[in-house]
Amino acid sequence: MNLLSSFRVTQEPLFKQVANTVEKMIHDGVLRPGERTPSLRAVCDQHGVSMSTAVQAFVELESRGLVEPRHKSGFFVKAPPKVIMDLPGPPRVPMSGSLGNRHASLFDAVVAGNVIALGGAVPSPEILPTAKLNRMLSEKARNAGARGVMYDLPPGSEMLRRQISKRMTKGGAVVAPADIITTCGATEALMLCLRAVTKPGDVVAVETPTYFGILHVLEALALRALEIPTDARTGLRLDVLESVLKNQPVNACIVLPAFSNPLGASMPDDAKQRLVGMLKAREIPLIEDDVFGELPFGPKRGRTCKSFDDSGLVLFCSSFSKTLAPGYRVGWVVPGRYYHAVRIAKLTHTMATATLPELAIASFLADGGYDHWLRSARAIYKMNVMRMRRAILEEFPAGTTVTTPQGGFLVWVTMPVTVNALELYDRALAKGISIAPGQLFSLEPRYANCIRISCGEPWSPRIEGAVRTLGSLAKRQVK
Ligand SMILES: Cc1ncc(COP(=O)(O)O)c(C=O)c1O
Repeated sequence: MNLLSSFRVTQEPLFKQVANTVEKMIHDGVLRPGERTPSLRAVCDQHGVSMSTAVQAFVELESRGLVEPRHKSGFFVKAPPKVIMDLPGPPRVPMSGSLGNRHASLFDAVVAGNVIALGGAVPSPEILPTAKLNRMLSEKARNAGARGVMYDLPPGSEMLRRQISKRMTKGGAVVAPADIITTCGATEALMLCLRAVTKPGDVVAVETPTYFGILHVLEALALRALEIPTDARTGLRLDVLESVLKNQPVNACIVLPAFSNPLGASMPDDAKQRLVGMLKAREIPLIEDDVFGELPFGPKRGRTCKSFDDSGLVLFCSSFSKTLAPGYRVGWVVPGRYYHAVRIAKLTHTMATATLPELAIASFLADGGYDHWLRSARAIYKMNVMRMRRAILEEFPAGTTVTTPQGGFLVWVTMPVTVNALELYDRALAKGISIAPGQLFSLEPRYANCIRISCGEPWSPRIEGAVRTLGSLAKRQVK
């Protein structure tokens, strides 16, 4: 149906109705200031109106101060009405209601340009090797030819999988390129693993507190999360897990053994080995999320659970989102005995991982100085975490505690029980600071007095000021 039929039922002259639709496009941000509007001919075709109606519509838009003619070039959108600047992006979601709502709300706050983003577990592009990686991407785009525009069907780029195999030996796992499937980030890897090993209604044991993205994925797949207490230094409580396994069915388990999100906990290697053995004895698949594994503060990373896996029950997931480029959306999975199921699931999920980002990352790993860059990033994060801990302990109410992660760039802050993190979130956002409230990290009403803070931004007086502001907002909630 062309737009004309809906126009003509109203009383307004046709040219005004056409002008109104163009005005709406300007207000919705479809047409931006300085951009050329559709031509008169295009307006005639789209709306089924005559040339004189289209001309009248543009005269009307000009009189509304929305467009201006330029010699021999047509009409252009004029000065930005203020609303246009405020509108881009989806409408803001409140930090309430469903897990999905809260997840979306947090990201709204993280990506809002003028906010000091302490809420997302996102590394700053100022710390990432942004310029070099983007150069490698453009070099790939120039030289990849047809390959660059074609699907890189699962298992994905062989060049990248070879590089990943090499890196995985650092965590003690000997994995062939043929064992790996590339994914659109770790989020997809987790989703594919869960799809491969569970069915709706199954129970999945997770750490608590845990990364809200995992809780969200479980919800999306109609799985039931079973939250297992987690120690802030040594990770998942194996004693608790063991007694749970004796008493109730568990269909899969997800752990973040290296610098977990949000606690920054590191499981000792012998605990990882014990965990793998405990689950193997019951034939329960273990999904290992290692996105922070390459960011230890010490000289060496620990072993991965995958390195202890001799039965194919460990499904290893990771990505380059914390180390190179979250926006490239490149991750991977080593699905063990579930390889076929994961590969098939990928075909119905995203079909393939984006070819050019895969190739750029493969080049960076091969000869971009990845280890050199990781060393410098780790030193920055270690320093940031130290400064952040000190600043929080100075500025927050008495009784506040902060975790002491040995890698990654997240700290978990526990404030006196009268402080409500959701309230703090709202008040902080009103002052241009985003944080991640503790309530996001569990399905139970826990962690209401906790927040997760990211140290992924370069340290600056602006961040110091933000911590001071957060501290004084939190103090106001202490009775
Ligand atoms: C522990 C953990 N796993 C997975 C993800 C998702 O990573 P990706 O951006 O690679 O999808 C995140 C992102 O914050 C994370 O913190």
